[in-house]
Amino acid sequence: DGFATPGPRHLRARRARSRQETRMARLIEEVRSEAVAAPKGSVLERVSRHRDTPDGPLDARTAAVELLNVLRPTAAVSWFVAFSAHALHRWPAHRERLRAGDGAFATAFAHEVRRFYPFAPFLGGRTVTELTWHGESVPSGGILLLDVYGQNHDEELWTDPYAFRPERFLDRPPERDDLIPQGGGDPDTGHRCPGERITVGLLEALAVRLARLEYTVPEQDLRIPLHRIPTRPRSGFAVTGVRAP
Ligand code: HEM
Repeated sequence: DGFATPGPRHLRARRARSRQETRMARLIEEVRSEAVAAPKGSVLERVSRHRDTPDGPLDARTAAVELLNVLRPTAAVSWFVAFSAHALHRWPAHRERLRAGDGAFATAFAHEVRRFYPFAPFLGGRTVTELTWHGESVPSGGILLLDVYGQNHDEELWTDPYAFRPERFLDRPPERDDLIPQGGGDPDTGHRCPGERITVGLLEALAVRLARLEYTVPEQDLRIPLHRIPTRPRSGFAVTGVRAP
């Protein structure tokens, strides 16, 4: 919760990361010495057993970082789940198609949540070589910012960009570089998020489950501050009286 934000929240996040790395490195050593059994097929088991050199397994610290590289962004999908709940609360008409298990609509809903709501408003990168981009010259070692929120709300790309309308994706699935909440380009050759399909898959499944749940939304502060990165509803999204049908 503390990336791209200078100040105490960032420092807390760095300390938490370092604490978790130590904890996970210990856990990996315990799995390797068989003091602890990793659940079969779990990421913990895969990372603990992984060998990519003939010399043996990864050192425990590197394995811990790799384990957290999967766990941390998977937990981050909960930000989009909170935004999905927010969207269903503001535009309850979408519940019906999700409840009915309309798979194409669930995919469109997942894309629209990722397009409409801000998560990382921009991405930064350092140029490794001098380059010219659309007539602008950028020196080597310069910093480039990709305006993710701007692109995802660009009127030339999206009709009525500030309206939440999953249907826009039903007739036209997004082209590679249209929708870029998780980076642009090709994940095989660049740095675009390789977990994008996992994110969309989780959101499709969880949006359907959310739409099928019955719950009460108590009075709370659902405003979304735009100066916070990553942002979320001020109160999170609290529900009470949850009943599965
Ligand atoms: C809330 C959901 C997520 C968001 C918003 C997100 C966003 C991003 C962004 C913006 C980048 C950098 C792209 C760039 O520099 O061009 C990235 C990279 C990455 N993401 Fe995600 N991501 C999410 C979920 C996931 C999941 C579920 C996984 C895997 C389980 C994952 C794994 C990674 C990895 C390994 C990278 C580094 C790729 C590289 O540098 O080559 N992400 N993600």
